[in-house]
Amino acid sequence: MAEPGSDYWLKLGTTPEQLMKVAEEYRTMAYAPYSRFFVGAALLMDDGAVIGGCNVENSSYGVTLCAERIAMGNAVSSGRVRPLAIAVAGDADSFCSPCGACRQFLAEFNPNMDVILRKRGRLVSIPLSSMLPYLFKLEDDER
Ligand code: THU
Repeated sequence: MAEPGSDYWLKLGTTPEQLMKVAEEYRTMAYAPYSRFFVGAALLMDDGAVIGGCNVENSSYGVTLCAERIAMGNAVSSGRVRPLAIAVAGDADSFCSPCGACRQFLAEFNPNMDVILRKRGRLVSIPLSSMLPYLFKLEDDER
């Protein structure tokens, strides 16, 4: 199993570009008839598995689920709970960064994971910890 913080990309034989490519593939599956904003996400897990998700909207707008949370749910459903990185693919021309709810949701599983985003055509890697300072945690929770 690769450790967060180590050079896990090399160890697991994948690249941020490849992870983003999977996110883009999942983006094509997005169900977004209301916003028409299609998003895909791909997680690199510590065993090397790459697990994706897309946003799923609902006519009751508020129950819409983002691609990042669907991907993380898919990972947990496959028995994997240790993500090292996530790539998020939104509209090619806009900077698509995880919403606050997704940041909290992802931090449950690894507050230090790397978030790979596309900014002005280039990939950037941002630690989730810097996107969500003072995250909520249950007191005395030692999980
Ligand atoms: N959305 C995501 O799936 N991930 C993000 O990082 C930002 C927003 C979705 C939710 C909704 O279906 C649509 O994009 C517009 O907000």
